Amino acid sequence: MTRTIALSVRLPDDYHDLLIADLADLDFEAFESEPDELRAWMPATRWSETVRQSVEALAAARGGGPEAVTVEVMEAQDWNATWEASLQPIEAGAFVVAPTWADLAPTNRHVLRIDPKMSFGTGYHESTRLCLRLLSEHPPADGGRALDVGTGTGVLALAALAAGAEEAWGVDVDPWSVPNATENAERNAMSDRFHVAEGSLEAAPDGPYDLVFANILKSTILPMLPQLDARLAPDGDLILAGILQTERDEVVAACAARGLAPASEGTENEWWACRMRREDA
Ligand SMILES: C[S@@+](CC[C@H](N)C(=O)[O-])C[C@H]1O[C@@H](n2cnc3c(N)ncnc32)[C@H](O)[C@@H]1O
Repeated sequence: MTRTIALSVRLPDDYHDLLIADLADLDFEAFESEPDELRAWMPATRWSETVRQSVEALAAARGGGPEAVTVEVMEAQDWNATWEASLQPIEAGAFVVAPTWADLAPTNRHVLRIDPKMSFGTGYHESTRLCLRLLSEHPPADGGRALDVGTGTGVLALAALAAGAEEAWGVDVDPWSVPNATENAERNAMSDRFHVAEGSLEAAPDGPYDLVFANILKSTILPMLPQLDARLAPDGDLILAGILQTERDEVVAACAARGLAPASEGTENEWWACRMRREDA
């Protein structure tokens, strides 16, 4: 089971936005800005002495000495238990995402029962909520096919199925995602329409897909943009997230170079997400 690296960098709040962008480039996945302290997390498998030196250099460049940086290794079970205990239902667009143990009031929204285990995708992260809102604005046509790259718990693929897609594929390089997304598909009675595989784009059929999600990080999304584009149906939607507001222009320019333009955009806190379509669609 993967352990997690919990990083703390004690620096004034003014530096946090820039530091989040730099830490995201180092592959940190989640961030919490507190007064004079930025916290960030990554799987322990990605941590190395080189990453530590890079973090210390980033802190030093903003006036923080080595004592400003502390690193803690969190055992997977502790992290998971704490996380699960704190989960509450969330509403995003046409969806309510709730763990199986939460009681829900009657709702007109699509209810997705998602128990997270170790996979990212509870709906608690801004980027997941942004994707759910973008999907709600323009749900797939009945019979559509969806591809969710970096599926985590499977939440976005399952949302696409709830919103009208006929079939969805979810892929993730984290081996923990496969059993978790599979269980979540069973919980939502969608196993027959949701296929999960370990790996990246190559692990799913080539497409075309009417809807493609990539809620990962800019540093991962940009190199895979040609492959994402190649799998998109001519009038398909590509929903990109995991991207900071400061990175928006770079992502829009990379998409424009492939003839893709924003049809809709959203932001929450420092995060940005977008639904891209072909300019000639
Ligand atoms: C931010 S989480 C998104 C999870 C979920 N789709 C959601 O929206 O909540 C990103 C996921 O992408 C996976 N990932 C990272 N790089 C990847 C790659 N190159 N191919 C496929 N999955 C990747 C991570 O393991 C992680 O589960």
